[in-house]
Amino acid sequence: MKFKKAIIIGATSGIGKALAFKLAREGYALGLTGRRGGLLQELQRALIQPGVDAGGVVVSIKEMDVAKTEEAQQLFKELVAEMGEVDLVVICAGVGLSSTRPSWQIDRKVIEVNVLGFVAMMTAAAEYFCKKGNGHIVGISSVAAFLYHGSSSAYPASKAFVMNYMKGLRLKLKRIQPKIYITDIRPGYVDTPMVEHIKFKPFLITAEKAADLIYKAITKKKRSAYVPWRTGVAANFYGFLLRVWPDFFERFLK
Ligand SMILES: NC(=O)c1ccc[n+]([C@@H]2O[C@H](COP(=O)([O-])OP(=O)(O)OC[C@H]3O[C@@H](n4cnc5c(N)ncnc54)[C@H](OP(=O)(O)O)[C@@H]3O)[C@@H](O)[C@H]2O)c1
Repeated sequence: MKFKKAIIIGATSGIGKALAFKLAREGYALGLTGRRGGLLQELQRALIQPGVDAGGVVVSIKEMDVAKTEEAQQLFKELVAEMGEVDLVVICAGVGLSSTRPSWQIDRKVIEVNVLGFVAMMTAAAEYFCKKGNGHIVGISSVAAFLYHGSSSAYPASKAFVMNYMKGLRLKLKRIQPKIYITDIRPGYVDTPMVEHIKFKPFLITAEKAADLIYKAITKKKRSAYVPWRTGVAANFYGFLLRVWPDFFERFLK
């Protein structure tokens, strides 16, 4: 039997890590990346030890910082070569930094990782799948794309970019290679280190639940999926209210 092979960009923590276990249980061979090499090795050990969670899975790891875009693209190519062939690439890497005062350092970091790093990985995956003739790319945007915040002007803007970027890339690929699928995952609050500091988290779900829902969206080759669906209804409705009555509804945003 031919194993399916998946790369997860940003697998050391949160959603990416939970998805690594989910895909391993579903029989995928994995290529996992992140900046924290120690965590990657830990994860590799946990995944390949028979009897522990997944058990007996083939796992390759590669330390990479997506903000170092050209280097990250080269490392992506090396990882694909090590794995032989890849069917699925999931881009989870992201940062959710905020600040009460304007900050170039923070906004730049968010854009470097969530926008430039994201596009570097998306194009690396798309170029590879165009050569291969088929494949599936999953990007993680957010329901934050429909909103905006005073505490973080860059994060929701970066996610709006990600959402629209995937729509355009899907159209482009449809003309070139219709057997490449793009799925935009739009999570609400997921219980990961990224949102630890946030107090009010409506519709919060665990990273494991998010991984299950993402896996479902992957198997159905969905264009987009709200994780969970309730957050999509809430965020779209609130986004609509903000567009129509910003003066009134902005008072509920931080
Ligand atoms: N949690 C939520 O409520 C929520 C909601 C909506 C969308 N999202 C999105 O979901 C994705 C995953 O977030 P999460 O909640 O799982 O957060 P997380 O637990 O903080 O995980 C973030 C992952 O991204 C990796 N990463 C960060 N900067 C990187 C860089 N420069 N280069 C390579 N990898 C990098 C981290 O690995 P290293 O630190 O080892 O590099 C880590 O594996 C993000 O895109 C986030 O915006 C999350």
